[in-house]
Amino acid sequence: MKGIILAAGAGTRLYPVSMPISKVLLPVYDKPMVYYPLSNLMMGGIRDILVITNEEDDPKFRKLLGDGSQFGVHIDYLIQYVPKGISDAFIIAEKWIGGDDVVLVLGDNIFCGPEMQSLIKSAIEENEGATVFGYYVKDPERFGVVEFDGDMNAISIEEKPKNPKSNYAVVGLYFYDGRACEFAKTLLPSANRNELEITDLNIRYMEEGRLKVKLLGDKVRWFDAGTFDSLLEAGNFIKDVQERTSRNIGCPEEIALSKGFVTKEEVIERISKFKENSYQIYVKEICGIKTSIKNTQS
Ligand code: G1P
Repeated sequence: MKGIILAAGAGTRLYPVSMPISKVLLPVYDKPMVYYPLSNLMMGGIRDILVITNEEDDPKFRKLLGDGSQFGVHIDYLIQYVPKGISDAFIIAEKWIGGDDVVLVLGDNIFCGPEMQSLIKSAIEENEGATVFGYYVKDPERFGVVEFDGDMNAISIEEKPKNPKSNYAVVGLYFYDGRACEFAKTLLPSANRNELEITDLNIRYMEEGRLKVKLLGDKVRWFDAGTFDSLLEAGNFIKDVQERTSRNIGCPEEIALSKGFVTKEEVIERISKFKENSYQIYVKEICGIKTSIKNTQS
């Protein structure tokens, strides 16, 4: 199983904030946004990761994430030159995917909750065709919306419908078998935004009876952090949970350690180069180094 982080959007909903920089590099409390989807892929045990960016932001992502070896993963990069939609990722990445199963996560989707690891793992293990996650929302018309039967097979899926058939938004974390690229190449741009919609790819699987739905329950919080309010809300939520639990959300060093992707010594060597701040202190502590000064403001 390979993983793709799609971080190519222009982020116009966050202008002027995202004019000079991809929204996926903006801070969500104490980490760049991309750390959260990256952590989700790593939680699923995925070590072959592709980041798709726009041309301008490509060097910035490379500067932040490098080749991924600091987290014990391998990161490649490809550019989406024209914003042609989410499903276009499978056309861009066809060679890189090489017919494997693949998970796609949207760069601005943030998931919080201890269940995420087991949910992602089970989606990977059980996927036969495609699997999407549904999340109960009050405003489903803002999202892809899925309706499902008692066996959790999707029976309808619509992109931003005016009259939603359910309250379940399809979140930006998708699991596909090796046919995603083949299907993506047959899609036509949508009438309303002229894009290759991820919903249309999901419909291809649904038509074969192979689109499963899993629900993110009450204990999981999901943010599509692409608006001013949701970006702030996600940051505040993460700060609050981290302070209450003394556990970080979306810390790739921690996940890499827990998965055995890296050794403590490797993590300590890298993090020691950072200036002391609460992130560094946390990472040192999970490596067993007690730090006396708790200067979270530095
Ligand atoms: C995209 C998808 C939509 C999905 C949403 C999740 O919407 O098209 O189906 O529900 O991501 O974040 P967009 O953010 O492109 O409007």
